[in-house]
Amino acid sequence: MEVERVQAIASLSVRKNTIPLEFIRSEKEQPAITTFHGPVPEIPTIDLSDPDQEKLARAISDASQNWGLFQVVNHGIPSDVISKLQSVGRDFFELPHEEKEAYAKPPGAKTIEGYGTKLQKEVEGKKSWVDHLFHKIWPPSSINYHFWPKNPSSYREANEEYAKWLRGVVDKLFTSLSLGLGLEGHVLKDAVGGDELEYLMKINYYPPCPRPDLALGVVAHTDMSTITVLVPNEVAGLQVFKDDHWFDAKYIPNALIVHIGDQIEILSNGKYKSVLHRTTVNKEKTRMSWPVFCEPSPELVMGPLPQLVSEENPAKYKAKKYKDYVYCKLNKLPQ
Ligand code: SIN
Ligand code: FE2
Repeated sequence: MEVERVQAIASLSVRKNTIPLEFIRSEKEQPAITTFHGPVPEIPTIDLSDPDQEKLARAISDASQNWGLFQVVNHGIPSDVISKLQSVGRDFFELPHEEKEAYAKPPGAKTIEGYGTKLQKEVEGKKSWVDHLFHKIWPPSSINYHFWPKNPSSYREANEEYAKWLRGVVDKLFTSLSLGLGLEGHVLKDAVGGDELEYLMKINYYPPCPRPDLALGVVAHTDMSTITVLVPNEVAGLQVFKDDHWFDAKYIPNALIVHIGDQIEILSNGKYKSVLHRTTVNKEKTRMSWPVFCEPSPELVMGPLPQLVSEENPAKYKAKKYKDYVYCKLNKLPQ
Protein backbone atom coordinates (compact mmCIF):
# COMPACT_ATOMS: atom_id res chain seq x y z
CA MET A 1 0.00 0.00 0.00
CA GLU A 2 1.28 3.44 -0.81
CA VAL A 3 2.16 5.73 2.05
CA GLU A 4 0.29 9.00 2.18
CA ARG A 5 2.70 11.93 2.08
CA VAL A 6 2.10 15.04 4.16
CA GLN A 7 2.77 17.09 1.03
CA ALA A 8 -0.35 15.54 -0.56
CA ILE A 9 -2.44 15.91 2.60
CA ALA A 10 -1.36 19.56 2.79
CA SER A 11 -2.60 20.44 -0.68
CA LEU A 12 -6.05 19.02 0.13
CA SER A 13 -6.07 20.70 3.55
CA VAL A 14 -5.25 24.13 2.18
CA ARG A 15 -8.31 23.98 -0.06
CA LYS A 16 -10.56 22.90 2.81
CA ASN A 17 -8.86 25.10 5.38
CA THR A 18 -8.83 22.29 7.93
CA ILE A 19 -6.41 19.53 8.86
CA PRO A 20 -7.13 15.85 9.54
CA LEU A 21 -7.81 15.00 13.17
CA GLU A 22 -4.66 12.88 13.58
CA PHE A 23 -2.55 16.03 13.13
CA ILE A 24 -4.34 17.98 15.86
CA ARG A 25 -2.21 17.88 19.00
CA SER A 26 -3.57 17.76 22.53
CA GLU A 27 -3.55 20.98 24.55
CA LYS A 28 -0.33 19.84 26.23
CA GLU A 29 1.46 20.03 22.88
CA GLN A 30 -0.36 22.65 20.78
CA PRO A 31 2.13 25.38 19.87
CA ALA A 32 -0.45 28.17 20.23
CA ILE A 33 -0.90 27.23 23.89
CA THR A 34 2.59 26.09 24.84
CA THR A 35 4.93 28.63 23.18
CA PHE A 36 6.42 31.15 25.60
CA HIS A 37 5.76 34.76 24.60
CA GLY A 38 7.43 36.66 27.41
CA PRO A 39 10.92 38.12 27.16
CA VAL A 40 12.85 35.46 25.27
CA PRO A 41 16.37 34.71 26.50
CA GLU A 42 18.82 34.86 23.63
CA ILE A 43 19.96 31.51 22.24
CA PRO A 44 23.77 31.85 22.06
CA THR A 45 25.30 32.96 18.76
CA ILE A 46 28.96 32.04 18.39
CA ASP A 47 31.52 33.53 16.02
CA LEU A 48 33.50 30.54 14.80
CA SER A 49 36.21 32.73 13.24
CA ASP A 50 37.39 33.95 16.66
CA PRO A 51 41.18 33.40 16.61
CA ASP A 52 41.25 33.11 20.42
CA GLN A 53 40.83 29.34 20.75
CA GLU A 54 40.33 29.42 24.51
CA LYS A 55 37.62 32.04 24.31
CA LEU A 56 35.88 30.13 21.53
CA ALA A 57 36.03 26.88 23.53
CA ARG A 58 34.57 28.66 26.58
CA ALA A 59 31.68 30.10 24.56
CA ILE A 60 30.87 26.71 22.98
CA SER A 61 31.21 24.92 26.30
CA ASP A 62 28.92 27.44 28.11
CA ALA A 63 26.28 27.17 25.37
CA SER A 64 26.49 23.35 25.42
CA GLN A 65 26.01 23.26 29.19
CA ASN A 66 23.23 25.83 29.45
CA TRP A 67 21.29 25.32 26.22
CA GLY A 68 22.59 22.29 24.33
CA LEU A 69 22.04 24.41 21.23
CA PHE A 70 23.68 27.42 19.60
CA GLN A 71 23.94 29.19 16.26
CA VAL A 72 27.30 29.66 14.59
CA VAL A 73 28.23 32.54 12.31
CA ASN A 74 31.44 33.15 10.31
CA HIS A 75 31.80 29.39 10.02
CA GLY A 76 33.67 29.64 6.72
CA ILE A 77 31.17 27.78 4.51
CA PRO A 78 30.57 30.06 1.50
CA SER A 79 26.97 31.25 1.29
CA ASP A 80 26.63 29.97 -2.29
CA VAL A 81 27.53 26.44 -1.14
CA ILE A 82 24.64 26.65 1.34
CA SER A 83 22.21 28.18 -1.10
CA LYS A 84 22.98 25.47 -3.69
CA LEU A 85 22.37 22.77 -1.08
CA GLN A 86 19.02 24.41 -0.35
CA SER A 87 17.97 24.89 -3.93
CA VAL A 88 18.68 21.30 -5.06
CA GLY A 89 16.83 19.99 -1.99
CA ARG A 90 13.83 22.20 -2.71
CA ASP A 91 13.89 21.15 -6.38
CA PHE A 92 13.73 17.50 -5.33
CA PHE A 93 10.68 18.02 -3.12
CA GLU A 94 8.97 19.98 -5.89
CA LEU A 95 9.27 17.06 -8.33
CA PRO A 96 6.07 15.20 -9.22
CA HIS A 97 4.94 12.64 -6.65
CA GLU A 98 5.96 9.57 -8.76
CA GLU A 99 9.49 10.83 -9.26
CA LYS A 100 10.04 11.26 -5.54
CA GLU A 101 8.55 7.85 -4.78
CA ALA A 102 11.41 6.26 -6.76
CA TYR A 103 13.57 7.17 -3.73
CA ALA A 104 11.12 5.91 -1.11
CA LYS A 105 12.59 3.97 1.77
CA PRO A 106 11.76 0.34 0.97
CA PRO A 107 9.07 -0.96 3.37
CA GLY A 108 10.61 -3.02 6.15
CA ALA A 109 14.14 -1.88 5.18
CA LYS A 110 16.77 -1.82 7.92
CA THR A 111 18.32 1.37 6.61
CA ILE A 112 16.93 4.75 7.52
CA GLU A 113 17.94 6.15 4.11
CA GLY A 114 15.40 7.26 1.53
CA TYR A 115 12.37 9.49 0.99
CA GLY A 116 9.65 9.03 3.57
CA THR A 117 7.04 10.03 6.07
CA LYS A 118 7.16 8.90 9.66
CA LEU A 119 4.87 5.88 9.78
CA GLN A 120 4.33 5.17 13.41
CA LYS A 121 2.05 7.58 15.21
CA GLU A 122 3.67 9.33 18.16
CA VAL A 123 2.52 11.01 21.35
CA GLU A 124 -1.17 10.20 21.84
CA GLY A 125 -1.41 8.69 18.35
CA LYS A 126 -0.71 11.97 16.57
CA LYS A 127 1.14 12.52 13.30
CA SER A 128 3.77 15.08 12.32
CA TRP A 129 3.36 17.66 9.55
CA VAL A 130 6.55 16.77 7.68
CA ASP A 131 8.06 14.56 4.95
CA HIS A 132 11.78 13.78 4.75
CA LEU A 133 14.71 12.45 2.75
CA PHE A 134 17.67 10.75 4.48
CA HIS A 135 21.04 9.83 2.96
CA LYS A 136 24.62 9.64 4.17
CA ILE A 137 27.07 12.20 2.82
CA TRP A 138 30.38 11.15 4.44
CA PRO A 139 32.67 9.16 4.56
CA PRO A 140 32.63 8.01 0.90
CA SER A 141 32.62 4.32 1.94
CA SER A 142 29.25 4.83 3.71
CA ILE A 143 27.50 6.59 0.82
CA ASN A 144 24.73 4.81 -1.07
CA TYR A 145 24.08 6.96 -4.13
CA HIS A 146 20.87 5.07 -4.77
CA PHE A 147 19.23 7.42 -2.27
CA TRP A 148 20.69 10.61 -3.75
CA PRO A 149 18.25 12.24 -6.19
CA LYS A 150 19.39 12.23 -9.85
CA ASN A 151 17.09 15.15 -10.49
CA PRO A 152 18.06 17.97 -10.27
CA SER A 153 21.30 16.94 -11.97
CA SER A 154 23.43 19.15 -9.72
CA TYR A 155 22.11 17.45 -6.57
CA ARG A 156 25.22 15.31 -6.15
CA GLU A 157 27.72 18.07 -6.71
CA ALA A 158 25.93 20.43 -4.30
CA ASN A 159 25.83 17.81 -1.54
CA GLU A 160 29.43 16.72 -2.03
CA GLU A 161 30.58 20.30 -1.90
CA TYR A 162 28.61 20.97 1.29
CA ALA A 163 29.98 17.78 2.93
CA LYS A 164 33.53 18.87 2.18
CA TRP A 165 33.08 22.25 3.88
CA LEU A 166 31.02 20.87 6.73
CA ARG A 167 33.81 18.51 7.81
CA GLY A 168 36.01 21.50 8.67
CA VAL A 169 33.24 23.02 10.81
CA VAL A 170 32.54 19.73 12.60
CA ASP A 171 36.24 19.22 13.39
CA LYS A 172 36.43 22.71 14.83
CA LEU A 173 33.34 22.12 16.98
CA PHE A 174 34.73 18.84 18.35
CA THR A 175 38.04 20.53 19.19
CA SER A 176 36.29 23.27 21.15
CA LEU A 177 33.97 20.83 22.90
CA SER A 178 37.00 18.75 23.90
CA LEU A 179 38.95 21.76 25.21
CA GLY A 180 35.82 22.84 27.09
CA LEU A 181 35.96 19.57 29.02
CA GLY A 182 39.54 20.32 30.07
CA LEU A 183 40.87 17.71 27.62
CA GLU A 184 43.23 17.94 24.66
CA GLY A 185 41.58 19.05 21.46
CA HIS A 186 41.66 15.66 19.71
CA VAL A 187 40.13 13.54 22.51
CA LEU A 188 36.43 13.94 21.78
CA LYS A 189 36.72 13.41 18.01
CA ASP A 190 38.82 10.27 18.65
CA ALA A 191 36.16 9.00 21.05
CA VAL A 192 33.43 9.26 18.42
CA GLY A 193 35.46 7.21 15.94
CA GLY A 194 37.76 9.83 14.36
CA ASP A 195 37.41 9.79 10.59
CA GLU A 196 34.87 6.97 10.75
CA LEU A 197 32.25 9.36 12.08
CA GLU A 198 29.28 9.16 9.68
CA TYR A 199 27.46 12.22 8.40
CA LEU A 200 23.76 11.50 7.87
CA MET A 201 21.89 14.20 5.94
CA LYS A 202 18.16 14.66 6.52
CA ILE A 203 15.98 17.08 4.62
CA ASN A 204 12.80 18.06 6.43
CA TYR A 205 10.00 19.36 4.20
CA TYR A 206 7.16 21.03 6.13
CA PRO A 207 4.40 22.10 3.68
CA PRO A 208 2.13 25.06 4.50
CA CYS A 209 -0.42 24.11 7.15
CA PRO A 210 -3.85 25.79 7.52
CA ARG A 211 -3.74 25.28 11.31
CA PRO A 212 -0.18 25.89 12.53
CA ASP A 213 -1.65 26.66 15.95
CA LEU A 214 -2.75 23.03 16.37
CA ALA A 215 -0.12 20.92 14.55
CA LEU A 216 3.58 20.23 15.05
CA GLY A 217 6.32 19.62 12.48
CA VAL A 218 8.72 17.42 14.39
CA VAL A 219 7.56 16.36 17.88
CA ALA A 220 9.68 17.12 20.98
CA HIS A 221 12.86 15.01 21.04
CA THR A 222 16.60 15.04 21.64
CA ASP A 223 18.93 13.93 18.83
CA MET A 224 20.58 10.54 19.42
CA SER A 225 23.84 11.22 17.62
CA THR A 226 26.88 13.28 18.73
CA ILE A 227 26.20 16.71 17.28
CA THR A 228 23.75 17.88 14.63
CA VAL A 229 24.62 20.76 12.32
CA LEU A 230 21.53 22.21 10.66
CA VAL A 231 20.90 24.61 7.80
CA PRO A 232 17.41 26.17 8.06
CA ASN A 233 15.49 28.01 5.39
CA GLU A 234 14.14 31.51 6.11
CA VAL A 235 10.86 30.25 7.62
CA ALA A 236 11.38 30.14 11.40
CA GLY A 237 9.95 27.17 13.29
CA LEU A 238 12.58 25.59 15.54
CA GLN A 239 11.70 25.72 19.24
CA VAL A 240 13.94 24.89 22.18
CA PHE A 241 12.84 23.76 25.64
CA LYS A 242 14.61 25.52 28.48
CA ASP A 243 13.61 26.37 32.05
CA ASP A 244 10.19 24.75 31.51
CA HIS A 245 9.31 26.83 28.45
CA TRP A 246 9.29 26.46 24.67
CA PHE A 247 11.28 29.28 23.03
CA ASP A 248 11.45 30.21 19.33
CA ALA A 249 14.91 30.15 17.76
CA LYS A 250 15.32 33.18 15.56
CA TYR A 251 16.41 32.88 11.95
CA ILE A 252 19.88 34.30 11.33
CA PRO A 253 20.77 34.39 7.61
CA ASN A 254 23.76 32.14 6.85
CA ALA A 255 24.06 30.80 10.39
CA LEU A 256 24.28 27.09 11.14
CA ILE A 257 22.38 25.67 14.11
CA VAL A 258 24.30 23.20 16.27
CA HIS A 259 22.48 20.71 18.51
CA ILE A 260 24.23 18.74 21.23
CA GLY A 261 23.01 15.15 20.91
CA ASP A 262 22.69 12.32 23.43
CA GLN A 263 26.15 10.83 22.72
CA ILE A 264 27.94 14.06 23.64
CA GLU A 265 25.92 14.30 26.85
CA ILE A 266 27.01 10.72 27.63
CA LEU A 267 30.70 11.17 26.71
CA SER A 268 30.85 14.37 28.80
CA ASN A 269 29.22 12.48 31.70
CA GLY A 270 26.37 14.97 31.76
CA LYS A 271 28.35 18.22 31.59
CA TYR A 272 27.00 19.02 28.13
CA LYS A 273 23.22 18.67 27.68
CA SER A 274 21.42 17.20 24.69
CA VAL A 275 18.74 19.71 23.78
CA LEU A 276 15.00 19.01 23.77
CA HIS A 277 13.55 20.62 20.66
CA ARG A 278 10.56 20.51 18.30
CA THR A 279 9.32 22.40 15.24
CA THR A 280 6.23 24.39 14.37
CA VAL A 281 4.83 24.89 10.86
CA ASN A 282 3.70 27.91 8.87
CA LYS A 283 0.30 28.84 7.46
CA GLU A 284 1.49 30.16 4.10
CA LYS A 285 5.07 29.11 3.63
CA THR A 286 7.00 25.88 3.22
CA ARG A 287 9.59 25.46 5.92
CA MET A 288 12.64 23.30 5.16
CA SER A 289 15.70 22.29 7.11
CA TRP A 290 18.88 20.29 6.39
CA PRO A 291 20.20 18.73 9.61
CA VAL A 292 23.32 16.55 9.38
CA PHE A 293 23.61 14.02 12.22
CA CYS A 294 27.20 13.11 13.07
CA GLU A 295 26.90 9.46 14.07
CA PRO A 296 29.38 7.04 15.59
CA SER A 297 29.59 3.74 13.72
CA PRO A 298 26.99 1.27 15.02
CA GLU A 299 29.48 -1.06 16.75
CA LEU A 300 31.37 1.69 18.59
CA VAL A 301 30.95 1.56 22.37
CA MET A 302 29.96 4.93 23.80
CA GLY A 303 30.14 5.81 27.48
CA PRO A 304 31.43 8.57 29.76
CA LEU A 305 35.07 9.44 28.93
CA PRO A 306 37.31 7.74 31.55
CA GLN A 307 39.16 11.04 32.09
CA LEU A 308 35.92 12.57 33.40
CA VAL A 309 34.96 9.79 35.79
CA SER A 310 36.29 9.50 39.35
CA GLU A 311 35.16 8.40 42.79
CA GLU A 312 33.68 11.84 43.45
CA ASN A 313 32.19 11.99 39.98
CA PRO A 314 30.95 8.49 39.08
CA ALA A 315 29.67 7.55 35.62
CA LYS A 316 26.08 8.72 35.15
CA TYR A 317 25.47 6.64 31.99
CA LYS A 318 26.01 3.04 30.96
CA ALA A 319 28.50 2.32 28.19
CA LYS A 320 26.96 0.55 25.20
CA LYS A 321 27.27 0.15 21.46
CA TYR A 322 25.75 3.05 19.54
CA LYS A 323 23.43 0.66 17.68
CA ASP A 324 22.10 -0.66 21.02
CA TYR A 325 21.51 2.88 22.26
CA VAL A 326 19.51 3.63 19.10
CA TYR A 327 17.51 0.40 19.42
CA CYS A 328 16.55 1.13 23.03
CA LYS A 329 15.59 4.71 22.28
CA LEU A 330 13.48 3.88 19.23
CA ASN A 331 11.71 1.09 21.11
CA LYS A 332 11.33 3.16 24.28
CA LEU A 333 13.35 0.67 26.36
CA PRO A 334 15.42 1.75 29.38
CA GLN A 335 19.04 2.66 28.49
C1 SIN B 1 14.59 18.14 13.76
O1 SIN B 1 14.96 18.32 14.90
O2 SIN B 1 14.53 16.98 13.30
C2 SIN B 1 14.20 19.27 12.87
C3 SIN B 1 14.71 20.58 13.29
C4 SIN B 1 14.33 21.67 12.33
O3 SIN B 1 13.65 21.44 11.32
O4 SIN B 1 14.74 22.81 12.59
FE1 FE2 C 1 16.25 17.00 16.03
